[in-house]
Amino acid sequence: MTLLIKNIAILCGIQENTNGYLAGNELGKINEIENAWLLVENDKILDYGKISEYENSQHFGSISIDKEIDATDKFVGPTWCDSHTHLIFPAWRESEFVDRINGLSYEEIAKRGGGILNTAKKMQDASEEDLFAHAQERIDEIIAFGTGAVEIKSGYGLSTESELKMLRVAKKLKQQNDIQIKTTFLGAHALPAKYKENRKEYIDLIVNDMLPKIAEEELADYCDVFCDRGFFTEAETDTILEAGNKLGLKPKIHANELGFTGGIQSGVRNNAVSVDHLECVGDEEIELLANSKTMPTLLPSTAFFLHLHYPPARKMIDNGLPIALATDYNPGSSPSGNMPFILALACIHLKMTPAEAFNAATINGAYAMELDSTLGSITKNKKANFFISNKGVNLSQIPYNFGRNPVEQVFINGKLIHQ
Ligand code: NIG
Ligand code: FE
Repeated sequence: MTLLIKNIAILCGIQENTNGYLAGNELGKINEIENAWLLVENDKILDYGKISEYENSQHFGSISIDKEIDATDKFVGPTWCDSHTHLIFPAWRESEFVDRINGLSYEEIAKRGGGILNTAKKMQDASEEDLFAHAQERIDEIIAFGTGAVEIKSGYGLSTESELKMLRVAKKLKQQNDIQIKTTFLGAHALPAKYKENRKEYIDLIVNDMLPKIAEEELADYCDVFCDRGFFTEAETDTILEAGNKLGLKPKIHANELGFTGGIQSGVRNNAVSVDHLECVGDEEIELLANSKTMPTLLPSTAFFLHLHYPPARKMIDNGLPIALATDYNPGSSPSGNMPFILALACIHLKMTPAEAFNAATINGAYAMELDSTLGSITKNKKANFFISNKGVNLSQIPYNFGRNPVEQVFINGKLIHQ
């Protein structure tokens, strides 16, 4: 099956041969072709170029085109790689949203048994069928915003049975969707109330019961810990990440959202694929990250929704770091999976340029899911995962027209899956 997209006003996110990530000055470099063509063969990108040169290309006349699409006035780019979500959950938490408007903080709500524990209570009674159906709706919703790969965490189970239930749902989503899904075990998301006086017992349960069962059933790619003030300590994080690493679950953690709690130190020490949130980052953390292969991942919709201060993205980039952007889609701190809006927040509040935000949401997001060799850019031989915009969109307009969805059609593995 060959598909030719012709007359593309702007073909964006082209990389000759990426693998890896873009950091520092490189993060702001974008390759685009105006008046372009893109040729897809089966599930892969075969080639691209300037429309005026198509008839002179090696493909003209030598390949029979099964389908042609005219993209006059439209922008085409690689689909977003949303490397951090919690999109399996039984119910929204809009009443806590109102509590916060009335003066309670996210941490105060968590302390009185709301927040993550509130969702965990409902999770116990939720059926796998219902969880799957709601999560599938959310996946369809994010695809419509142009997302083509997503990471999904457990972490609302907080018991062996419920964590396994969430991860079985995640595995089924992985098997039944065209978009690429990575799954993460987050048993250390919050301490269940019954372990309040005996934290060690819960850590032991994670290490000796949950992790081995998850590894045995091959339910997760990664192991996460919420290493933060009021949640899990640096030492507890080390214990869990080491146990996960031994079973082949690489770390990918929540760090430094609420305080300087050693999360980045633990993540880097344990070779985390990414450390995420990072509202609290200082010179020491920047230096550690600069000497590592760990992707700093920022979730600006969480800072927006919870009124936290934003991470020092500009300083991080100016010190040579890469950055990935993700939605953190969850019912408590970021009830939205809208990646174009994440780009807007990155430009408006993190002072990232549209080009930096675009690369952070595509190739660097792919790296944060270890998918950079097949996704995240328009590159020959990579998977044909791309979106075609509405008419009249350019790169800067994606964040500029905040709240608007620029995406008209989404192709995954060369197949149109949303329009
Ligand atoms: O990434 N920070 C920890 N966990 C989630 C929030 C989960 C919730 O409030 O339900 C987050 O923001
Ligand atoms: Fe999160």
